[in-house]
Amino acid sequence: MVSISEYHKIYIRSSLTIPESSFVTPMADEPNAPPQDRTYKVLLAQNDPQDRSFTRTFLQIVGGYEVIDAADGIGVIKQIKQRPDIILLDTVAQGKFLQALEIIRRSKALQAIPIAIYSNEQQKLPECIKKGADGFIVKPTSPSALLAKLWKLLGSESQKAASAAGFSDKYKRDLSQIENLPTLPVVYTEVDQLCKNPDVSADQLSKVIETDPSISLKLLSLANSAFFGFSRKITSIRDAVSLLGNQTVQNTILNIAVFEATKDLENTAGLDKGEFWVHSSAVGSTARYLAEALKLDRPESYTAGIIHDMGKIIMDALYSDFYTEVLQKVEKENISILKAEEDVIGLDHGEIGKELCESWQLPQELIEAVAYHHRPSSAEKDSQIASLVNIGDAIARKLGVGSGGDATVPEPHPAALKKLDITLEQLQEWEEDIKAAVDRDKSILSILQK
Ligand SMILES: [Fe+2]
Ligand SMILES: [Fe+2]
Repeated sequence: MVSISEYHKIYIRSSLTIPESSFVTPMADEPNAPPQDRTYKVLLAQNDPQDRSFTRTFLQIVGGYEVIDAADGIGVIKQIKQRPDIILLDTVAQGKFLQALEIIRRSKALQAIPIAIYSNEQQKLPECIKKGADGFIVKPTSPSALLAKLWKLLGSESQKAASAAGFSDKYKRDLSQIENLPTLPVVYTEVDQLCKNPDVSADQLSKVIETDPSISLKLLSLANSAFFGFSRKITSIRDAVSLLGNQTVQNTILNIAVFEATKDLENTAGLDKGEFWVHSSAVGSTARYLAEALKLDRPESYTAGIIHDMGKIIMDALYSDFYTEVLQKVEKENISILKAEEDVIGLDHGEIGKELCESWQLPQELIEAVAYHHRPSSAEKDSQIASLVNIGDAIARKLGVGSGGDATVPEPHPAALKKLDITLEQLQEWEEDIKAAVDRDKSILSILQK
């Protein structure tokens, strides 16, 4: 192994000047040194090839580490499958490394891997900590300080593993939300607040709704559509609120608000938004049909369908580099988008959608419908609505209405059938009626998308 002082010469030759006084040979028996029983693997993420080559050689020769490297965020996510013991991450914008940090810290399987930021952008320290980094090494630093910091972080690894549950809880608490998540129009939040009071009057509700002319107009159009099927014309918001009832008004405003909030999302990876919304609406219509057929009081069924795959829209827009790979894998291997997300990113649209719905402070049953529509038995409080959406998704795909981003047709989840106490034969019998409901509701998309 090369000594620090020998490496110092290489370091100087590389034109990165470090004061001689800053070199201190790290001692293997330092309190924070990792156990010496094996070679530790570092995932080095640096965009600049020269920097990366230099740091890699240093970590290998002086630190005795095995090094795998990545030039950008997507490379980090790919390399992570090799299970590094620690990740050393630069913050340069062109590498999109901080997006990788956001993703890694949301993946349960990867949460325990320590991540050290290695950057000269010291001002990013608070942001990196909020995103879940464990340490920050400011560049330029002395090689010994770099090694000492890595050792320190690796030294705490076993401790982290010992309290894995507590550790991930801590991260969940401390993580800031995904950057640039869309926000819902204020009027939805106000309606939500008012509806918490069961005695709120139609007057109070309609006054708040009328403060947003665009939402009011759409609410009136929807109230007069075949979706609700009233025989007379509804001419005022006050009238709509009285006829529909508070909860249905709230859900309808949420449907409108979701479209308002997401219509300007850009930089997409290529998910077909038109087909996506047709799929979402079909899932909602099916869930609504099933709830009515089974005499379940679930007025939020259609809304649950509208929002069930929102995680895809978020990943497509905010993690477009990563999501492009997902969509390519779907195309190439003809697999479900869910499987491709798990393979490429290690995080699926249910988890990202859950985070979005939490940031929107949606009711718990809607959050669970989004989070668990592919595994309804995991819903903690209310698996009924997640089950309705799960079956809705299977039927919408079977009917070939719209596209959820891939061409696969799953079977309804057995846990969903059991929860709703229905059989595949029964679903088959209802199929024609469901198809009619799906077709009828497709037309309201033109109102929502205006
Ligand atoms: Fe889904
Ligand atoms: Fe779906």
